[in-house]
Amino acid sequence: MATVPYYKSVVILDFGGQYAHLIASRIRRFGFKSFILPADTKAFLLKDAAGIILSGGPQSVYEKGSPQADPAILALGIPVLGLCYGHQWMAQAAGGTVSPAKVKEYGPTAIRTTVTHNPLFKELPKEFTVWMSHGDEVAVLPEGFETAASSKDCKNSAMMDLKRGLFGIQFHIEVTHSEHGMDILRRFVDICSPELWSVESYAAHIGEDVKKEVGDRKVFMLVSGGVDSTVAFTLLNQVLGHERVTGLLVDTGLMRKDEVLGIERAFDALKIKNLHIENASERFYQALDGVYEPEKKREIIGNTFLAVQKEVSDRMGLRIEDGWMLGQGTIYPDTIETGGTKHADKIKTHHNRVELIQRMMEEGLVVEPLKELYKDEVRQLGQELGLPRELVWRQPFPGPGLGVRILCAEKPHLVDPALLQDFSLGLPHTVLPVKSVGVQGDGRTYRHALALFASDKVPTDAHYALATSIPNSSKVFSRVLLCTSHTKPFDPVFTPTMIEKDTANLLRAADAIVDHEVRAVNLYDRIWQFPVVLLPMGPGNGHSIVLRPIESTDAMTAAAFRLPEALLKRMTEKILAIDGIDAVFLDLTNKPPATIEWE
Ligand code: XMP
Repeated sequence: MATVPYYKSVVILDFGGQYAHLIASRIRRFGFKSFILPADTKAFLLKDAAGIILSGGPQSVYEKGSPQADPAILALGIPVLGLCYGHQWMAQAAGGTVSPAKVKEYGPTAIRTTVTHNPLFKELPKEFTVWMSHGDEVAVLPEGFETAASSKDCKNSAMMDLKRGLFGIQFHIEVTHSEHGMDILRRFVDICSPELWSVESYAAHIGEDVKKEVGDRKVFMLVSGGVDSTVAFTLLNQVLGHERVTGLLVDTGLMRKDEVLGIERAFDALKIKNLHIENASERFYQALDGVYEPEKKREIIGNTFLAVQKEVSDRMGLRIEDGWMLGQGTIYPDTIETGGTKHADKIKTHHNRVELIQRMMEEGLVVEPLKELYKDEVRQLGQELGLPRELVWRQPFPGPGLGVRILCAEKPHLVDPALLQDFSLGLPHTVLPVKSVGVQGDGRTYRHALALFASDKVPTDAHYALATSIPNSSKVFSRVLLCTSHTKPFDPVFTPTMIEKDTANLLRAADAIVDHEVRAVNLYDRIWQFPVVLLPMGPGNGHSIVLRPIESTDAMTAAAFRLPEALLKRMTEKILAIDGIDAVFLDLTNKPPATIEWE
């Protein structure tokens, strides 16, 4: 009989990587028990576990204060698999050496297996491509270990001590962009042979939790119209009943063209009538007047949202004292990327994790039925709740809407020429005077974008390869673009830009063209998300548009989606016809090293 919840389960010790929950959810989908525990959980508590996985993390294992596990876990006699930081921690704890790598590897990397008796790589090809994201490496193996795989720049891409059942892997097997990642995880899980685990359905499981959490209170829910809040609102309606739920949709002026109308119709069809729509566009534009810094913008959008919500809820009599609490459609990546788990580095603050909300959460006034789910699980749940397919499989849209896609700046971000001294590229290019957010080695970066130019204005494999190699080898760039409107580099003319009605309308027009064109060629379902970004510069006095089509399953990692040439050309032409848009670029960068959104 199990006395501890992690009896015969695969335990993931969380060093704060972006990926710990991803591993747990994958193992659960294999049908086995899996839990996440803090990295420093004592070994004696884990003695009945079936196996242990050590997650990645943003720090260096040799740094003072970096998260450490209990070294005794390596002597429990149960299989242990270290991934990235976990691999390095295992090497160091077992007596090996970890040091900064000469070449830091980010993105797709070829590895070669070096032994034939590794049970984790059994029946896999000798060479395959995996997803790397690391600046340190295992330089000297601990005693008893042998190298199990190498890449061009990293000797110990994988290591093992078969006798003790200890395995270390430098790459991220848990992301879909690693070939055979799931095979390797599956083989490790099979070695552990944990207990079976299943949920009858997400709806039933989460529904019970929500009922308990809400008790006899009522829930007031902010609905953005995106997949997450739509599913959360529908779930709350079904679990608690229409009388105990009220929705508010705030039109922030940062919504897509005709979006509000579309949402109204969708809920009408679902017979969900308890949604109030409040047009607050002008209020948002005023609050964002003169604001340029990405995090500041997010904070203001979040706080204005809350202020409007408070006014409307006061007006509608939805007070805490009268038993109302706040519902949110937060999903797991929103939480972890704000540094929500113990050791995760802060990449960006999501609007539903601003200070005010954090305080309300501490007081138990917020219910977030989707907070442990990944996007694909939210969609599954939505379908279980009976939502129409088109609605559930809509591409995700960030809460702050077009607000995080209008790149604001008062002055150009110029690169210090000294930093570019060693940078040479045998191709026409321009360093753009703008910066964007990246995620490199589990940490946040804020770096420049490099634009490439080509005579036929379409990207080749070589351009895509540069989008991996340039951010990996340069400290200046986190993104690589190809200009689809011009064949030759131009001197960018900077235009001070902030969020206001005109810039929002400009972006809305370009975004509507992209949406229409993608649907017209039936590619909507194959592209996971397609941000369209407004840049404060161009060859003339206008702005530029960046197209950012990506493939992903969970937003934690993403690859640039390759658009058909004809579509790319048609979109570019139509966008260039918008008054005020002078250039169009295509973002070729994966995540990591770039994030999906630019801010
Ligand atoms: P990044 O840009 O971090 O995006 O790679 C990951 C996913 O999160 C969405 N995103 C947001 N969603 N509030 C949201 O609700 C935000 O502030 C926010 N920022 C990014 C993004 O669109 C992608 O799907």
